[in-house]
Amino acid sequence: MDWHIQYSDEKACLMLLDQRYLPGREDWYACTDTQSTIYALQTMVVRGAPAIGVTAAYGCWLAAREAAGEGWRERLDQLLTDLENARPTAVNLRWAVRRMRAAWAERSELDHAGLCAFWLELAQHIHDEDKRLCRLIGTHGAAVLDDGDTVMTHCNAGALATADYGTALGVIRGAVDAGKSISVIANETRPFLQGARLTAYELHKDGIPVKVACDNACSLLMKRGLVDKVVVGADRIAANGDAANKIGTSGVAILARHYGVPFYVAAPLSTIDRETPTGDDIPIEDRTPREVTHVGDHQITPDGVEVFNYAFDVTPAEMIAGIVTERGVLRPPFGPAIAAAFSERDAEEAAV
Ligand code: MRU
Repeated sequence: MDWHIQYSDEKACLMLLDQRYLPGREDWYACTDTQSTIYALQTMVVRGAPAIGVTAAYGCWLAAREAAGEGWRERLDQLLTDLENARPTAVNLRWAVRRMRAAWAERSELDHAGLCAFWLELAQHIHDEDKRLCRLIGTHGAAVLDDGDTVMTHCNAGALATADYGTALGVIRGAVDAGKSISVIANETRPFLQGARLTAYELHKDGIPVKVACDNACSLLMKRGLVDKVVVGADRIAANGDAANKIGTSGVAILARHYGVPFYVAAPLSTIDRETPTGDDIPIEDRTPREVTHVGDHQITPDGVEVFNYAFDVTPAEMIAGIVTERGVLRPPFGPAIAAAFSERDAEEAAV
């Protein structure tokens, strides 16, 4: 499913498969400027940390195009800041905007047309790179799953949350591609239902056996021995290995620890934020109450009753058996393992 984020040469815009309507309808949304890109990110037309990063990279190019004319550099600077702040938790958004800015700083001689062409190419490169990294996560992650495993996942960390293939679902796809028989329990993931709608949609399409469970069935399913491993994605991993992911993930991890089920996180290095020392420093998005008070257009809570809609929580590093990255499976203690993965990558990049 590498088609859900598409650059359209013909329309000179970014086309996104609108995830708000899946699996019922396959509608497309056109990002034509910064405002429409921010809207797509905030309303979750597109969501999932790496997919947000790829969209933001194209968003920088759209911002550059929009900023044309006298004073374009100053206008562009403001548009990039607005874009970077569209959602707070997934660090891939900031990572992508900073990467585009850094590339511009190295080519500061470019005129407006030159920067637009350069950034379109770089956004396409980031898009392709994410596809490649997810495959590597799949290849490394295949080793943590055994033939016959039933894997629980929370939210959607699949093709729809990345450029293609997925991170947590990349691990599952990697194991299936390696010839293992794997079935999946997708937690429904209230309130936006990423598990029930998106994970089930993707896996069912691929013919990978999947059952959807209510979020609150987790304890019973583990107690009955129906879950062999848990694999989830991440929106931001702190330097010590604490991992923010969709609300409810830390509860799954606590239950996994209680029942002795290994709990893995899968994410590219771009999701690891070395500037954030621990999970306590990760900003948690607080979304509109309407996502909780309503299911579709139907109101389910009484008028005037307040709700919580924190979108993410943090799983402490000590509950994580391994972090599957494009550079292999990092094992505890994660602080040194993360530092080593980055040094190794930086050394390889410097040698090229
Ligand atoms: O609010 P969302 O749908 O953007 O949250 C997504 C998640 O929590 C995913 O698990 C995470 O971004 C990893 S995506 C490979």
